[in-house]
Amino acid sequence: MSVPVASSVPVASASPAGAGRSIERPRVLSGVQPTGALHLGNWLGAIRNWVALQSDHDTFFCVVDLHAITVPHQPERLAEDTLSTAALYLACGIDPQKATIFVQSHVSAHSELCWLLNCVTPLNWLERMIQFKEKAVKQGADVSAGLLDYPVLMAADILLYDADRVPVGEDQKQHLELARDIAQQRINARFASRDSAGQPIPILKVPQPLILKEGARVMSLTDGRSKMSKSDPNEGSRITLLDPAELITRKIKRAKTDPQMGLEFGNPERPEADNLLGLYALLAGRSREAAAAECGSMGWGSFKPLLAEATVAALAPLQARYHELRADPQHLGEVLSQGRERASAVAEATLERVRQALGFLASS
Ligand code: TYM
Repeated sequence: MSVPVASSVPVASASPAGAGRSIERPRVLSGVQPTGALHLGNWLGAIRNWVALQSDHDTFFCVVDLHAITVPHQPERLAEDTLSTAALYLACGIDPQKATIFVQSHVSAHSELCWLLNCVTPLNWLERMIQFKEKAVKQGADVSAGLLDYPVLMAADILLYDADRVPVGEDQKQHLELARDIAQQRINARFASRDSAGQPIPILKVPQPLILKEGARVMSLTDGRSKMSKSDPNEGSRITLLDPAELITRKIKRAKTDPQMGLEFGNPERPEADNLLGLYALLAGRSREAAAAECGSMGWGSFKPLLAEATVAALAPLQARYHELRADPQHLGEVLSQGRERASAVAEATLERVRQALGFLASS
Protein backbone atom coordinates (compact mmCIF):
# COMPACT_ATOMS: atom_id res chain seq x y z
CA MET A 1 0.00 0.00 0.00
CA SER A 2 1.49 3.39 -0.80
CA VAL A 3 1.29 5.91 1.95
CA PRO A 4 0.36 9.50 1.29
CA VAL A 5 2.43 11.66 3.61
CA ALA A 6 2.39 15.32 4.47
CA SER A 7 3.34 17.35 1.47
CA SER A 8 6.46 19.34 1.85
CA VAL A 9 5.07 22.37 3.58
CA PRO A 10 7.20 25.45 3.51
CA VAL A 11 6.38 27.76 6.40
CA ALA A 12 7.09 31.46 6.56
CA SER A 13 9.61 32.58 9.05
CA ALA A 14 11.53 35.82 9.41
CA SER A 15 14.20 33.73 11.03
CA PRO A 16 16.30 31.75 11.12
CA ALA A 17 18.39 32.54 8.11
CA GLY A 18 17.84 30.31 5.18
CA ALA A 19 14.86 28.49 6.67
CA GLY A 20 13.12 29.16 3.37
CA ARG A 21 9.65 28.74 4.73
CA SER A 22 6.91 30.56 2.88
CA ILE A 23 3.51 29.71 4.37
CA GLU A 24 2.61 30.61 7.97
CA ARG A 25 2.14 27.33 9.76
CA PRO A 26 4.00 26.93 13.02
CA ARG A 27 6.35 23.98 13.16
CA VAL A 28 6.05 21.36 15.88
CA LEU A 29 8.48 18.61 16.84
CA SER A 30 8.25 16.00 19.55
CA GLY A 31 9.24 12.43 20.32
CA VAL A 32 8.96 9.46 22.66
CA GLN A 33 11.69 6.98 23.55
CA PRO A 34 11.08 3.39 22.46
CA THR A 35 11.94 2.02 25.88
CA GLY A 36 9.24 -0.50 26.65
CA ALA A 37 5.52 -0.01 26.49
CA LEU A 38 4.14 3.53 26.30
CA HIS A 39 1.86 4.41 29.21
CA LEU A 40 -1.02 6.73 30.04
CA GLY A 41 1.42 9.53 30.94
CA ASN A 42 3.01 9.43 27.47
CA TRP A 43 -0.41 9.50 25.85
CA LEU A 44 -2.19 12.08 27.99
CA GLY A 45 0.88 14.25 28.58
CA ALA A 46 2.25 14.24 25.04
CA ILE A 47 0.81 12.23 22.13
CA ARG A 48 -2.80 13.32 22.72
CA ASN A 49 -1.66 16.91 22.25
CA TRP A 50 0.24 16.06 19.07
CA VAL A 51 -2.98 14.76 17.54
CA ALA A 52 -4.69 18.06 18.30
CA LEU A 53 -1.86 20.04 16.68
CA GLN A 54 -1.42 18.13 13.43
CA SER A 55 -4.22 19.82 11.46
CA ASP A 56 -2.99 23.39 11.74
CA HIS A 57 0.73 22.92 12.43
CA ASP A 58 3.57 21.49 10.39
CA THR A 59 4.25 18.53 12.64
CA PHE A 60 7.28 16.22 12.97
CA PHE A 61 7.09 13.28 15.36
CA CYS A 62 10.08 11.04 15.83
CA VAL A 63 10.72 7.82 17.68
CA VAL A 64 13.85 8.78 19.60
CA ASP A 65 15.77 5.51 19.48
CA LEU A 66 19.18 7.15 20.01
CA HIS A 67 17.91 8.39 23.37
CA ALA A 68 16.79 4.87 24.26
CA ILE A 69 20.39 3.63 24.42
CA THR A 70 21.53 6.22 26.96
CA VAL A 71 20.71 3.63 29.64
CA PRO A 72 21.56 -0.07 29.27
CA HIS A 73 19.23 -1.55 26.64
CA GLN A 74 18.45 -4.89 25.04
CA PRO A 75 19.60 -4.87 21.37
CA GLU A 76 17.14 -7.65 20.52
CA ARG A 77 14.24 -5.41 21.65
CA LEU A 78 15.25 -2.04 20.15
CA ALA A 79 13.95 -2.48 16.58
CA GLU A 80 10.70 -4.06 17.76
CA ASP A 81 10.12 -1.34 20.37
CA THR A 82 10.84 1.31 17.72
CA LEU A 83 8.22 -0.16 15.37
CA SER A 84 5.73 -0.61 18.16
CA THR A 85 6.16 3.02 19.26
CA ALA A 86 5.67 4.25 15.69
CA ALA A 87 2.55 2.07 15.37
CA LEU A 88 1.24 3.56 18.62
CA TYR A 89 1.69 7.08 17.23
CA LEU A 90 -0.59 6.11 14.35
CA ALA A 91 -2.99 4.19 16.58
CA CYS A 92 -3.33 7.26 18.83
CA GLY A 93 -4.44 9.27 15.79
CA ILE A 94 -1.29 10.74 14.26
CA ASP A 95 -2.09 10.87 10.57
CA PRO A 96 0.81 10.37 8.12
CA GLN A 97 -1.07 12.52 5.61
CA LYS A 98 -0.75 15.44 7.99
CA ALA A 99 2.35 14.72 10.06
CA THR A 100 5.88 13.53 9.35
CA ILE A 101 6.59 10.39 11.38
CA PHE A 102 10.16 9.09 11.46
CA VAL A 103 12.86 7.29 13.39
CA GLN A 104 15.54 9.55 14.88
CA SER A 105 18.51 7.30 13.99
CA HIS A 106 17.37 7.21 10.34
CA VAL A 107 18.26 10.90 10.03
CA SER A 108 21.99 11.16 10.69
CA ALA A 109 21.81 14.96 11.07
CA HIS A 110 20.56 14.41 14.65
CA SER A 111 23.88 12.86 15.74
CA GLU A 112 25.91 15.38 13.78
CA LEU A 113 24.18 18.47 15.13
CA CYS A 114 24.40 16.94 18.60
CA TRP A 115 28.20 16.87 18.26
CA LEU A 116 28.36 20.50 17.10
CA LEU A 117 26.13 21.58 19.99
CA ASN A 118 28.18 19.49 22.45
CA CYS A 119 31.19 21.60 21.66
CA VAL A 120 29.48 24.84 22.68
CA THR A 121 27.42 23.59 25.65
CA PRO A 122 28.99 24.09 29.07
CA LEU A 123 29.39 20.87 31.01
CA ASN A 124 27.88 22.39 34.13
CA TRP A 125 24.60 23.09 32.29
CA LEU A 126 24.28 19.33 31.78
CA GLU A 127 25.32 18.40 35.29
CA ARG A 128 22.45 20.54 36.61
CA MET A 129 19.75 18.55 34.76
CA ILE A 130 17.32 16.96 37.22
CA GLN A 131 16.58 13.93 35.03
CA PHE A 132 20.30 13.23 34.66
CA LYS A 133 20.79 13.35 38.42
CA GLU A 134 17.78 11.07 39.02
CA LYS A 135 18.75 8.54 36.37
CA ALA A 136 22.47 8.66 37.22
CA VAL A 137 21.73 7.67 40.81
CA LYS A 138 19.97 4.55 39.49
CA GLN A 139 22.91 3.67 37.19
CA GLY A 140 25.59 3.98 39.88
CA ALA A 141 29.15 3.70 38.55
CA ASP A 142 27.92 2.57 35.14
CA VAL A 143 26.42 5.92 34.09
CA SER A 144 27.28 6.67 30.44
CA ALA A 145 28.49 9.89 28.83
CA GLY A 146 25.40 9.49 26.61
CA LEU A 147 23.08 9.91 29.59
CA LEU A 148 24.75 13.20 30.49
CA ASP A 149 24.52 14.26 26.85
CA TYR A 150 20.85 13.24 26.49
CA PRO A 151 19.53 16.84 26.61
CA VAL A 152 21.96 18.04 23.92
CA LEU A 153 20.72 15.33 21.56
CA MET A 154 17.18 16.41 22.43
CA ALA A 155 18.12 20.02 21.65
CA ALA A 156 19.49 18.85 18.28
CA ASP A 157 16.19 17.02 17.58
CA ILE A 158 14.22 20.20 18.15
CA LEU A 159 16.56 22.77 16.62
CA LEU A 160 17.08 20.81 13.38
CA TYR A 161 13.42 21.37 12.48
CA ASP A 162 13.23 25.07 13.41
CA ALA A 163 10.43 24.00 15.75
CA ASP A 164 8.25 26.82 17.04
CA ARG A 165 6.54 24.62 19.64
CA VAL A 166 7.46 21.44 21.44
CA PRO A 167 4.52 19.61 23.04
CA VAL A 168 5.79 17.61 26.04
CA GLY A 169 4.87 16.65 29.59
CA GLU A 170 5.94 18.74 32.56
CA ASP A 171 9.06 16.61 33.21
CA GLN A 172 10.69 17.90 30.00
CA LYS A 173 10.48 21.59 30.86
CA GLN A 174 14.11 21.87 32.00
CA HIS A 175 15.35 20.11 28.84
CA LEU A 176 13.38 22.58 26.74
CA GLU A 177 14.94 25.50 28.59
CA LEU A 178 18.35 24.04 27.85
CA ALA A 179 17.53 23.76 24.13
CA ARG A 180 16.46 27.41 24.15
CA ASP A 181 19.65 28.50 25.91
CA ILE A 182 21.86 26.55 23.53
CA ALA A 183 20.13 28.06 20.49
CA GLN A 184 20.06 31.59 21.84
CA GLN A 185 23.20 32.01 23.91
CA ARG A 186 25.59 29.48 22.43
CA ILE A 187 24.79 29.55 18.71
CA ASN A 188 22.85 32.68 17.73
CA ALA A 189 24.61 35.10 20.09
CA ARG A 190 28.05 33.84 19.12
CA PHE A 191 27.86 32.95 15.46
CA ALA A 192 25.06 34.98 13.82
CA SER A 193 26.07 37.22 10.93
CA ARG A 194 24.41 40.62 10.45
CA ASP A 195 22.11 41.97 7.77
CA SER A 196 22.67 45.28 5.96
CA ALA A 197 20.94 47.15 8.81
CA GLY A 198 23.33 45.59 11.30
CA GLN A 199 20.68 43.25 12.76
CA PRO A 200 21.78 39.72 13.68
CA ILE A 201 20.38 36.96 11.45
CA PRO A 202 19.58 34.09 13.82
CA ILE A 203 20.93 30.69 12.85
CA LEU A 204 18.60 28.58 14.95
CA LYS A 205 15.00 29.14 15.90
CA VAL A 206 14.40 29.40 19.65
CA PRO A 207 11.55 26.99 20.45
CA GLN A 208 8.71 27.33 22.97
CA PRO A 209 7.60 24.46 25.20
CA LEU A 210 3.92 23.53 24.91
CA ILE A 211 2.81 21.95 28.16
CA LEU A 212 -0.92 21.58 28.68
CA LYS A 213 -2.18 21.84 32.24
CA GLU A 214 -4.27 18.70 32.21
CA GLY A 215 -2.37 15.44 31.81
CA ALA A 216 1.05 17.11 31.93
CA ARG A 217 2.00 15.12 35.00
CA VAL A 218 0.28 11.74 35.33
CA MET A 219 1.33 10.15 38.59
CA SER A 220 2.10 6.55 39.55
CA LEU A 221 -0.79 4.30 40.57
CA THR A 222 1.20 3.10 43.55
CA ASP A 223 2.43 6.50 44.76
CA GLY A 224 0.55 9.69 43.96
CA ARG A 225 3.67 11.74 44.67
CA SER A 226 5.88 10.21 41.97
CA LYS A 227 5.52 10.36 38.21
CA MET A 228 4.13 7.44 36.20
CA SER A 229 7.25 6.15 34.49
CA LYS A 230 8.39 3.42 32.08
CA SER A 231 11.40 2.74 34.27
CA ASP A 232 9.52 2.06 37.51
CA PRO A 233 10.31 -1.61 38.32
CA ASN A 234 6.75 -2.05 39.65
CA GLU A 235 4.54 -2.68 36.62
CA GLY A 236 1.48 -2.06 38.77
CA SER A 237 2.52 1.60 38.95
CA ARG A 238 1.51 2.28 35.34
CA ILE A 239 -1.15 1.40 32.79
CA THR A 240 0.37 0.81 29.39
CA LEU A 241 -1.53 1.60 26.22
CA LEU A 242 -1.59 -2.08 25.28
CA ASP A 243 -2.64 -3.55 28.64
CA PRO A 244 -5.62 -5.90 28.24
CA ALA A 245 -8.90 -4.98 29.97
CA GLU A 246 -8.51 -7.44 32.87
CA LEU A 247 -5.01 -6.19 33.64
CA ILE A 248 -6.17 -2.56 33.62
CA THR A 249 -9.00 -3.43 36.00
CA ARG A 250 -6.61 -5.31 38.29
CA LYS A 251 -4.04 -2.49 38.35
CA ILE A 252 -6.72 0.08 39.18
CA LYS A 253 -8.20 -2.18 41.86
CA ARG A 254 -4.76 -2.36 43.51
CA ALA A 255 -3.95 1.34 43.06
CA LYS A 256 -3.03 3.18 46.25
CA THR A 257 -5.91 4.95 48.00
CA ASP A 258 -6.37 6.83 51.27
CA PRO A 259 -8.84 6.35 54.10
CA GLN A 260 -11.10 9.29 53.11
CA MET A 261 -14.47 9.14 51.34
CA GLY A 262 -15.08 11.21 48.21
CA LEU A 263 -12.75 12.06 45.33
CA GLU A 264 -11.41 15.60 45.10
CA PHE A 265 -8.86 17.76 43.30
CA GLY A 266 -6.15 19.88 44.82
CA ASN A 267 -5.89 18.49 48.36
CA PRO A 268 -2.12 18.20 48.95
CA GLU A 269 -2.78 15.52 51.56
CA ARG A 270 -4.55 13.37 48.94
CA PRO A 271 -2.29 13.05 45.85
CA GLU A 272 -3.85 9.70 44.82
CA ALA A 273 -7.37 11.19 44.80
CA ASP A 274 -6.18 14.12 42.70
CA ASN A 275 -4.35 11.87 40.23
CA LEU A 276 -7.06 9.24 39.76
CA LEU A 277 -9.85 11.81 39.50
CA GLY A 278 -7.76 13.68 36.91
CA LEU A 279 -7.31 10.46 34.95
CA TYR A 280 -11.03 9.80 35.12
CA ALA A 281 -11.84 13.28 33.79
CA LEU A 282 -9.46 12.90 30.85
CA LEU A 283 -10.35 9.31 29.98
CA ALA A 284 -14.12 9.69 30.35
CA GLY A 285 -14.03 12.99 28.45
CA ARG A 286 -15.48 15.00 31.36
CA SER A 287 -14.50 18.48 32.46
CA ARG A 288 -12.72 18.55 35.81
CA GLU A 289 -15.76 20.23 37.36
CA ALA A 290 -18.14 17.54 36.04
CA ALA A 291 -15.83 14.74 37.23
CA ALA A 292 -15.50 16.32 40.68
CA ALA A 293 -19.29 16.74 40.93
CA GLU A 294 -19.93 13.15 39.80
CA CYS A 295 -17.34 11.53 42.11
CA GLY A 296 -17.19 14.03 44.98
CA SER A 297 -19.15 11.86 47.38
CA MET A 298 -18.19 8.43 46.01
CA GLY A 299 -16.18 5.94 48.03
CA TRP A 300 -13.12 4.31 46.47
CA GLY A 301 -15.07 1.06 46.09
CA SER A 302 -17.53 2.68 43.66
CA PHE A 303 -15.01 4.98 41.99
CA LYS A 304 -12.41 2.40 40.98
CA PRO A 305 -14.70 0.29 38.74
CA LEU A 306 -15.88 3.52 37.09
CA LEU A 307 -12.29 4.56 36.38
CA ALA A 308 -11.42 1.06 35.13
CA GLU A 309 -14.40 1.11 32.76
CA ALA A 310 -13.48 4.55 31.41
CA THR A 311 -9.85 3.50 30.90
CA VAL A 312 -10.73 0.29 29.09
CA ALA A 313 -13.22 2.14 26.86
CA ALA A 314 -10.72 4.90 26.03
CA LEU A 315 -7.96 2.44 25.12
CA ALA A 316 -10.05 -0.14 23.20
CA PRO A 317 -10.18 1.68 19.82
CA LEU A 318 -6.50 2.57 20.04
CA GLN A 319 -5.58 -1.05 20.77
CA ALA A 320 -7.69 -2.37 17.88
CA ARG A 321 -6.04 0.09 15.50
CA TYR A 322 -2.59 -0.83 16.83
CA HIS A 323 -3.10 -4.54 16.12
CA GLU A 324 -4.33 -3.75 12.58
CA LEU A 325 -1.22 -1.65 11.96
CA ARG A 326 1.14 -4.32 13.23
CA ALA A 327 -0.52 -6.81 10.91
CA ASP A 328 0.57 -4.67 7.93
CA PRO A 329 4.34 -4.13 8.34
CA GLN A 330 4.70 -2.85 4.79
CA HIS A 331 2.43 0.10 5.49
CA LEU A 332 4.34 1.05 8.62
CA GLY A 333 7.64 0.68 6.76
CA GLU A 334 6.42 3.05 4.06
CA VAL A 335 5.23 5.63 6.57
CA LEU A 336 8.66 5.61 8.21
CA SER A 337 10.62 5.68 4.99
CA GLN A 338 8.63 8.60 3.59
CA GLY A 339 8.92 10.31 6.99
CA ARG A 340 12.70 9.88 6.89
CA GLU A 341 12.89 11.47 3.45
CA ARG A 342 10.95 14.54 4.42
CA ALA A 343 12.63 14.89 7.81
CA SER A 344 16.11 14.52 6.27
CA ALA A 345 15.50 17.33 3.79
CA VAL A 346 14.57 19.78 6.56
CA ALA A 347 17.27 18.57 8.96
CA GLU A 348 20.09 18.66 6.40
CA ALA A 349 19.31 22.28 5.49
CA THR A 350 19.53 23.36 9.14
CA LEU A 351 22.69 21.36 9.71
CA GLU A 352 24.31 23.02 6.71
CA ARG A 353 23.42 26.45 8.13
CA VAL A 354 25.11 25.58 11.42
CA ARG A 355 28.16 24.07 9.69
CA GLN A 356 28.60 27.26 7.69
CA ALA A 357 28.10 29.49 10.72
CA LEU A 358 30.74 27.53 12.63
CA GLY A 359 33.17 27.94 9.75
CA PHE A 360 33.58 24.41 8.39
CA LEU A 361 35.10 23.91 4.95
CA ALA A 362 32.28 23.06 2.53
CA SER A 363 32.51 19.59 0.99
CA SER A 364 32.19 19.63 -2.74
P1 TYM B 1 9.88 9.94 27.17
O1 TYM B 1 9.79 8.79 26.27
O2 TYM B 1 10.40 9.75 28.56
O3 TYM B 1 8.47 10.64 27.31
C1 TYM B 1 7.72 10.97 26.17
C2 TYM B 1 6.72 12.07 26.45
O4 TYM B 1 5.82 11.67 27.50
C3 TYM B 1 5.79 12.64 28.53
N1 TYM B 1 5.60 11.97 29.81
C4 TYM B 1 4.62 12.27 30.68
N2 TYM B 1 3.64 13.18 30.63
C5 TYM B 1 2.79 13.20 31.68
N3 TYM B 1 2.88 12.38 32.75
C6 TYM B 1 3.86 11.46 32.84
N4 TYM B 1 3.92 10.65 33.88
C7 TYM B 1 4.78 11.36 31.77
N5 TYM B 1 5.85 10.57 31.51
C8 TYM B 1 6.34 10.94 30.30
C9 TYM B 1 7.16 13.33 28.46
O5 TYM B 1 7.13 14.60 29.04
C10 TYM B 1 7.39 13.37 26.97
O6 TYM B 1 6.73 14.47 26.39
N6 TYM B 1 13.21 13.41 26.41
C11 TYM B 1 11.92 13.06 25.85
C12 TYM B 1 12.03 12.46 24.46
C13 TYM B 1 12.59 13.41 23.44
C14 TYM B 1 11.97 14.58 22.95
C15 TYM B 1 12.85 15.11 21.97
C16 TYM B 1 10.77 15.22 23.26
C17 TYM B 1 13.78 13.28 22.76
N7 TYM B 1 13.92 14.29 21.88
C18 TYM B 1 12.55 16.31 21.27
C19 TYM B 1 10.48 16.41 22.56
C20 TYM B 1 11.35 16.92 21.60
C21 TYM B 1 11.19 12.12 26.80
O7 TYM B 1 10.93 12.44 27.90
O8 TYM B 1 10.81 10.93 26.37
